[in-house]
Amino acid sequence: MTVASVAFTALLVMVGCGKNEGSGSAASNTDLVAAGKAVFDANNCARCHIVAGQGNPRGRDLTRVGADPKHTMQWLIEHVKNPRAHNPNSTMPAFEGKISEQDLKALGAYLSSLK
Ligand code: HEC
Repeated sequence: MTVASVAFTALLVMVGCGKNEGSGSAASNTDLVAAGKAVFDANNCARCHIVAGQGNPRGRDLTRVGADPKHTMQWLIEHVKNPRAHNPNSTMPAFEGKISEQDLKALGAYLSSLK
């Protein structure tokens, strides 16, 4: 076995463990967070926001947006739907009616997981 193939095998084992982690309700939460990340990407939130160094710094850096106790899933969903409800001067576009309720829920789970 070459060094490269050992490293590759180790990687496969790590990926496998990550998948096993989420059994039961944890699995559905992991799935929701992953679905929310896809909603974030599909709506191009990164054109104004940075998450973990990726994106544009027009809006706030969202890398740790879920760490603030005020930022509950509900608050985050409301902010995406209508940013001016929280901040009358916000220049962020309202996504109400543009993102389905189901996708907003996933997006809220994703954003609140960022901490
Ligand atoms: C045209 C630029 C733009 C786009 C696109 C955009 N945002 Fe924003 N966003 C902002 C700006 C500017 C702020 C800061 C002002 C405010 O509080 O609304 C902000 C604030 C936020 C906040 C509040 C952060 C905090 O700490 O208070 C969240 C959460 C957020 N955006 C999520 C999103 C998500 C999710 C998307 C994609 C669906 C998105 N944004 C798309 C510009 C944008």
